[in-house]
Amino acid sequence: MTHFLLNSLLMQRRAFLRATSAAAAAAGAPSFLLSGCGTNLPKADLVVDPNIPWWRQHNFGPVFDELDETDLKVRGAIPPELNGVYVRNGSNPQASDNTHWFLGDGMVHGVRLGGGEAKWYRNRYVRTTFHEDGIGFGVPQGPNTYANVSLVYHADRLLASGEVGFPYELNPSDLSTVGVRDFAGELNNYFTAHPAIDPATGFMHFFGYGFGPPFLTYCVADDQGTLLSCEAVAARGATMMHSFAITDRDAIFWELPVVFDLSVLSETGWMFRWDADFGARIGVMPLGGPASEIRWVEIEPCYVFHHLNAFRVGDDIVVDVCRYDEMMNGERFGAIDPQLRRWTIGTAGEELTFSESTLSERNIEFPYSDRRNFGRATRYGWFTSLRDHPETLDPAGVVRYDSQTGMIDEWEPSPYRQSGEPLFVPAGDGEGDGWLLTFVYDRSADATDLVILDATAVGGGPVAEVRMPRRVPHGFHGTWVPDQA
Ligand SMILES: [Fe+2]
Repeated sequence: MTHFLLNSLLMQRRAFLRATSAAAAAAGAPSFLLSGCGTNLPKADLVVDPNIPWWRQHNFGPVFDELDETDLKVRGAIPPELNGVYVRNGSNPQASDNTHWFLGDGMVHGVRLGGGEAKWYRNRYVRTTFHEDGIGFGVPQGPNTYANVSLVYHADRLLASGEVGFPYELNPSDLSTVGVRDFAGELNNYFTAHPAIDPATGFMHFFGYGFGPPFLTYCVADDQGTLLSCEAVAARGATMMHSFAITDRDAIFWELPVVFDLSVLSETGWMFRWDADFGARIGVMPLGGPASEIRWVEIEPCYVFHHLNAFRVGDDIVVDVCRYDEMMNGERFGAIDPQLRRWTIGTAGEELTFSESTLSERNIEFPYSDRRNFGRATRYGWFTSLRDHPETLDPAGVVRYDSQTGMIDEWEPSPYRQSGEPLFVPAGDGEGDGWLLTFVYDRSADATDLVILDATAVGGGPVAEVRMPRRVPHGFHGTWVPDQA
């Protein structure tokens, strides 16, 4: 995209913000009213039935029909520069008796935006072999998987991916399933839910972890989606390795003590367990390989699903992570109380060094950075804030963390509302200039809105909210598929 075009988009965005602020002022309506933000509402008690797993209750429960709706009600003003499709993936079990939140058919929910309008909402199951064969519980392998965790748009392909197994390609125009994406038969191991696209090359770096040797593989696809390389990485064993990081020259893995163990399945209904004795370590290797050059450094046992970003500061690598003290220790989940920590890995010496500091003690998850700078230094991060609840995951609003000042800017909706991952869509050329898109569920109305926030002014509340034709269950990760220029 040319500099001129970026400047043009920035000007459009500023003009839009001025116009919508003026309109709100003229109507005597402060912008927070758009959010339905009832600050006068009493603190809601989220009652959880202890006899039913929390991921089958409230808005974690599945929906079963596939809808197409074009008559969508909008509050506020949708930024006209948002031309594309917002799509989000999640676990939506057909049988609704899944033994874990992570075990359920992939279902995507999408909203088409264009010219300041919400054109349609659709939801579709991902037509995996598990779904087509009606398999409620299975150990994923190859095309036999759930494809229920994330979406990635790369090389003009929209891919739905699960934790393990192959991704499935979807058609962004109607969210139908094109088929399994096995990279022309070249993919012979697994595919993570969190591939990393290097903004400098457009290459997609990804890993896969499996339940038997090789436990970990690292692959690179070029900007056309052609698989360039796949190689085994020496791992200690099968662990739940949910994501990894890249910098402009490194690939970084964290091998943490949530280990694969089928022997606990009958007891816990789940196939991983905490094992502090397994140890924990971080591996650093050159971006693109070879994997033989990986170096490891031991760290204290902990667990990390997601990182915000990673980048080089001279010989040091910085990785900002949502860190748990432990995970799946004797139960299927454990306390959901992640804190934002900064890992600093020194690479100058023969041996790696490691240190850790706390950036924020707030419980925040689903990190998102301006991915135009993925792997490079970034200042801002957006997260979902979590309410303190001992029995369930209770997401609240959206926060922006400023790593330069340590300040948090926060949109706290009513206590009945629960936000998902804040997906950043760039608009303008400055880091963090853009919009945040997320589904927000309202328990008091049993309804879901697609909420759009100004990424530079999160605390100002939504600029627009699009009411979905019915609730959208809580899910995991989404992406933005822009219209072709
Ligand atoms: Fe994830």
